[in-house]
Amino acid sequence: MEKIVIDGGQALRGSVVNSGAKNAALPILIATLVAPGEHRLANVPDLADVSSTLSLLGRIGCPSLAKLDGADGTLRLDTTRVAYSEAPYDVVRKMRASVLVLGPLLARCGEARVSLPGGCAIGVRPIDQHLKGLEALGCRFELANGYVNGVAPELKGAEIHLDVPTVTGTENIVMAAVLARGTTRIHNAAREPEVVDLCRFLISLGARIDGAGTPTIVIDGVDRLTPASRPYRILPDRVEAGTYLAAAAATGGDVTVTGSDPTLLQAVLDLLERAGCTIETSRDTIRLRREGELRPFSVTTEPFPGFPTDMQAQVMALACFARGTSSIVETIFENRFLHAAELSRMGAKITASERTAKVEGTGSLQGAAVMASDLRASAALVVAALAARGLTEVLRIYHLDRGYDDLCGKLRRLGARIARVGDEIASRDALLAAVASVPAAGSSAATDAGGVAAR
Ligand code: EPZ
Repeated sequence: MEKIVIDGGQALRGSVVNSGAKNAALPILIATLVAPGEHRLANVPDLADVSSTLSLLGRIGCPSLAKLDGADGTLRLDTTRVAYSEAPYDVVRKMRASVLVLGPLLARCGEARVSLPGGCAIGVRPIDQHLKGLEALGCRFELANGYVNGVAPELKGAEIHLDVPTVTGTENIVMAAVLARGTTRIHNAAREPEVVDLCRFLISLGARIDGAGTPTIVIDGVDRLTPASRPYRILPDRVEAGTYLAAAAATGGDVTVTGSDPTLLQAVLDLLERAGCTIETSRDTIRLRREGELRPFSVTTEPFPGFPTDMQAQVMALACFARGTSSIVETIFENRFLHAAELSRMGAKITASERTAKVEGTGSLQGAAVMASDLRASAALVVAALAARGLTEVLRIYHLDRGYDDLCGKLRRLGARIARVGDEIASRDALLAAVASVPAAGSSAATDAGGVAAR
């Protein structure tokens, strides 16, 4: 197993390329099932969750034809043949988003067998709204032995009122409704940019969708869909961009995120400005500079366009470096403060109960060994470690690999003293040697560390 070691206190400087969005790439890869044939997708991020999705599609009978080429992230996928309409437990337990095959398989094959995702570190996360919406379209489900078994003799358009604006729930229903007979209206639909990107992709296959990005999505079903003639480009990852900006803010740096889209994370940029950062944007770049003291802030997570829950942990880490009390309210998931205890190991003063946390910012943290519990919690620990004094070891980094493309390489190019090492490397000297062996920012070798076990 590997861990990340960071020698903190380095102001991050320079520019970083924004990768494609994980939470758009996963549903779009799976949506290729509704249009038999060869698909080409560009700006696909190189992530463990993308590999899991490709292996799931491979098991269903849809091979990816070209290995994910990191350079421009273009992928070719062939969904001409679907051999199995099943998403087994060993895949779904690793990646809940696998449940997104339910809608497309029911629309394409009239049947689907998908392992129930079960709970996760941040909450119970039921899929009742997914099933409610698909049942309204004419699907029938039976839950047995940990699986959802669904049949759809015929899909018919329907009026669907979601109790919560669920992101993957909306996506699952849209991917079935595009091939249903008649019109479907999804009320209280999720408005996240990733949902809009999925709808744009489906429209490029011939789907008829209106209202993506608004609370009401209207879908007029069609008989068949076909792969687009041109590669579809996945939108930039607003959470990845927000994470680098939070790291720049925490370290008092000057960082520009390129290949991005500031309109996707306005609520995050507003918070960073309130905290005392200077933000400059263009159509596809976001520059953050922090010279003066960080100011405390209050934030409440909400569905888009509100403040994203996937940035809550990273700004909790940031609040530790402000002087004064910040308050954070988490309204989306019931158990998303696991990072607070790990930040406290670094000297943070955080009181968290149920969905509210208070952070007494002291302006600094110290390095320590900390444990990641989920994807965004691990990103928060990296943000904290980059600005903390001394060495930090972040364990269980497989969480990070699920959602961050070349995190260490990108941070190194911004001047961070960071390295990936084997868990067995423990002595302080060896850890310092691993970080020191990383060539300085801007040097051509900065991305590929030599030296002691540094990777
Ligand atoms: C998506 O998860 C994202 N994942 C999550 O990102 C993100 O945190 C979340 O949306 C909210 O923005 C992907 O897109 C793959 P929800 P999803 O259904 O769709 C409740 C990351 O870090 N709910 O919108 O699973 C649910 O319990 C991940 O990249 C029901 O009650 O989230 C939660 O409280 C983490 N019944 C709320 O709705 C349902 O049927 C929102 O969940 C569905 C959801």
